[in-house]
Amino acid sequence: MSKEGIRLIIIQNGQLVSPSGLTRADLALDGGRIVAIEPHIEPGEGDTVHDAAGCYVFPGFIDGHTHLDMESGSLVTADDFTTGTRAAVCGGTTTIVDFATQDKGGTLNDALDAWHKKADGKCSCNYAFHMAITDWNDQVKAELPEMFRRGVTSFKAYMAYDALKVNDAELLEILQSLKPFGGILGVHCENGLLVNELQARQKELGHFGPDAHPVSRPAEVEAEAVNRLCYLGKLADTPVHVVHLSTELGLEEVRAARKKGVKVYAETCPQYLTMDESRYKAPGFEGAKYVMSPPLRTPADVQALRKAVAAGEIDTIATDHCSYNFKGQKDLGIEDFTRIPNGGPGIEHRPMVVYTSMVQPGELAVTDFCRLLAENPAKLFGMYPRKGVLAVGSDADVTVWDPEAKTVITAARQQQNVDYTPYEGFAVTGMPKAVFVGGVLAAEYGQPTGLVAGTYVKR
Ligand code: URP
Ligand code: ZN
Ligand code: ZN
Repeated sequence: MSKEGIRLIIIQNGQLVSPSGLTRADLALDGGRIVAIEPHIEPGEGDTVHDAAGCYVFPGFIDGHTHLDMESGSLVTADDFTTGTRAAVCGGTTTIVDFATQDKGGTLNDALDAWHKKADGKCSCNYAFHMAITDWNDQVKAELPEMFRRGVTSFKAYMAYDALKVNDAELLEILQSLKPFGGILGVHCENGLLVNELQARQKELGHFGPDAHPVSRPAEVEAEAVNRLCYLGKLADTPVHVVHLSTELGLEEVRAARKKGVKVYAETCPQYLTMDESRYKAPGFEGAKYVMSPPLRTPADVQALRKAVAAGEIDTIATDHCSYNFKGQKDLGIEDFTRIPNGGPGIEHRPMVVYTSMVQPGELAVTDFCRLLAENPAKLFGMYPRKGVLAVGSDADVTVWDPEAKTVITAARQQQNVDYTPYEGFAVTGMPKAVFVGGVLAAEYGQPTGLVAGTYVKR
């Protein structure tokens, strides 16, 4: 028990992970915070002990790219904040950053109010919001200080999707306007005009199936947009963040810009590290399960991105979780691939998929895994050292990881509220034994405890 008489949670015998190394130590949580890290912590009366022998102990993982309860036309994503965050904690994620999205003609404040209404009181893990700016004007610019006061330090802009995209001049002005606040802009890098043209060409050729999706969004469409964003960042003299990077060609643009002194952060996602475009050739309409933007790429792109992850060229791995049911949602595009709602699920499986496919075979150090899933997103999105590190005084968000535990990913047993998973049949080695959110045990071995402990992260 602590000096104040608070009952502690003591995590004993684990290997604490940070990007700089492993330490054998015990952790004491007093509920909200980590209060002690010692070689051995003797439990007092009433304290709860969790044995982490044989386990890694990570700062809770952060997923910096999710779309929960998101409307797109007449559709709404299959996962809302209740189901999505429950799935997240079951996989070891203790904080998500979701995209509040401005309506065309609407205000940022209204969008933020709407996202709080969707999320507050429902989240099993902690949550913060990026603000997606879809309609830039002077009134919106005047709202920026209020966004920072309300805890939003990161923003998003789209270079594609007619309903969401901003033009280059607007992008430049958004970057310049965020600069005095130190805000960071994540950008969906695809040339939207080219996508529209290439989609129309596929349809003229009579190609209406899911396999036309990657053809309409080739690597050049991403790389050109990454290049343009980097130059806009250079002009504005401010960092830029490329979200869901999927191609070697795009990666080469990131490298080139960095060589020129542009500060470019790059995010990729498990789907671009583990699956390739052959999935679009699946029989029948199965390929629709992988219709997301950017699309899955060639095996060479997958290898290039994996090498970049291992080499430290990629800053974060997030999911871009945006789930639509195969039946009743994806199948709206059965006659026309451009009507298939874009996005796929992954919020539950990201740590297991990356650990199994990269850490377990020795391609990625466990310390780098910690950097990519915890420390870097915390730093990039203004949450460090409150989150992203195991330190006295940091939030008690902790993921105890059993590196030997085995399971098989299947939609039949997943927590995600969607009728498929792109990782169906994926054999996992390494999964979370126990997940603490603000000192509350939220999940054990992939099952939720039912405690809804997530709080809003005002950054
Ligand atoms: O296909 C995707 N990724 N849908 C979600 C929205 C986005 O582009 O990030
Ligand atoms: Zn995007
Ligand atoms: Zn997204």
